[in-house]
This record gives sequence, structure tokens and C-alpha cells, in this order.
Amino acid sequence: MKFFLDTADITEIRQLAALGLVDGVTTNPSLIAKTGRKMSEVITEICAAVDGPVSAEVTATEHGAMLAEGRTLRKLAHNVVVKLPLTAEGLRACRDLSEEGILVNLTLCFSPAQALLAAKAGAAYVSPFVGRLDDVSHDGIGLIADILEIYDNYDFSTEVLVASVRHPMHVIQAAKLGADVATMPPSVLRALINHPLTDKGLAGFLADWAKTGQTIL
Ligand code: E4P
Repeated sequence: MKFFLDTADITEIRQLAALGLVDGVTTNPSLIAKTGRKMSEVITEICAAVDGPVSAEVTATEHGAMLAEGRTLRKLAHNVVVKLPLTAEGLRACRDLSEEGILVNLTLCFSPAQALLAAKAGAAYVSPFVGRLDDVSHDGIGLIADILEIYDNYDFSTEVLVASVRHPMHVIQAAKLGADVATMPPSVLRALINHPLTDKGLAGFLADWAKTGQTIL
């Protein structure tokens, strides 16, 4: 499973990328707005900090304008993936940009039907939002299972990018189902690393070691 960071915070991205666990980054207009900086500069910096795909989202809602914005974003760096909303206009723009060789991430996916259309439109990634579905009492992880089953039936190459991840169990459940990617806030990646028994165990080992007076080097 690939791990993407769902943030536009370049400091967080650099820190976590240094761990060697970050395969890519996803952003959206709200995350870019939070930085208070110019989108083109933020995306260019993120693309330089991470080797893998970096999703940059258009804000146009009409096909022609989506194409223009998508082509402009793609020119920022070789690893930009153009993110489009899963609307009729977005599906049409996805088909056109994909035929130009531009990778597209279709975002704001909330149903198996939308995911089926994303694959048919040639999307490189589809982003089902598990957390936002859970928020309204729908089964976010159930959606992932449905999409994986459908994609498997037809050998679609579109990757399932689990988005709107809120906690480590979303990542674990998605991994058990075999989802291709999970994009998560930095806090969730840190939560995956940490365990109180690891901290307690390490403290015990180090205390016992100190009593020996030895050093390894
Ligand atoms: C996906 O690419 C989105 O940026 C993101 O996962 C949305 O998450 P949220 O529901 O926590 O805003």
C-alpha cells in the first residue's frame, strides 16, 4: 500500500518524507488556502520535496476551463497529478487530459457508480472520501470494498486512493481490503508509528542497559 500525505504544509511534508515512508502527496483548495501562499509556489515546492505523485486540484467547474487549469498545473513539475471533481464536466476533462498523457485523480467520490465512471474515463486515481461518508452515517470503508470488487471484475487500472482518512483504523481497514493508496493527514501517519507499549518497552530496555555501564560503540 502506498502512503500519501494529505496536506500542503511543506514543513510537515519534508519532515515525514525524511522517514522514507511518503510515496506522494494530495492537496485540495482548502489545504492550499490554509497555507496562505500562492498555489503554484506551494505545489512546486512539494513536488521537489517528494519523488512521487502530487495531486493539485483545479478550481474551474466547466470542461474547457478545467482543461486549461489542468494543463497549467501539470507544467509546474513532472510529478503533478491533476485533480478534478467527480462531476460530468470533470469526467469529460479527465478523458481529454488522460488522452494527452496527463495523470488525473478524480476526487470527491462518494459512490461505487462514480468510481465505475472514473475508471471508464481513464482516471489514474479515484479518491473515495471515507471519513466524510462516516460523518453522515454511511459506511466509508464499505465503499472501498465495493470499488475494489468492481475494479477487480474488469481489471481496471485506476488506483483506489482512500481519502478523507481520519484515524489509523481507516488505513488498516483499507489495507486489509487491498486498496492501492491511503492519503492521510500527518497526524494519522504519526499515529500509525506510535504505540504506548513500544515507548514503555524501550524505556525498560534502556533503564536495564544503563545499569550495565556498557556502551556498544
Ligand atoms: C483528498 O484528496 C482530500 O484532500 C482529503 O482527503 C479530504 O479530507 P477531509 O474530509 O478530511 O477534508
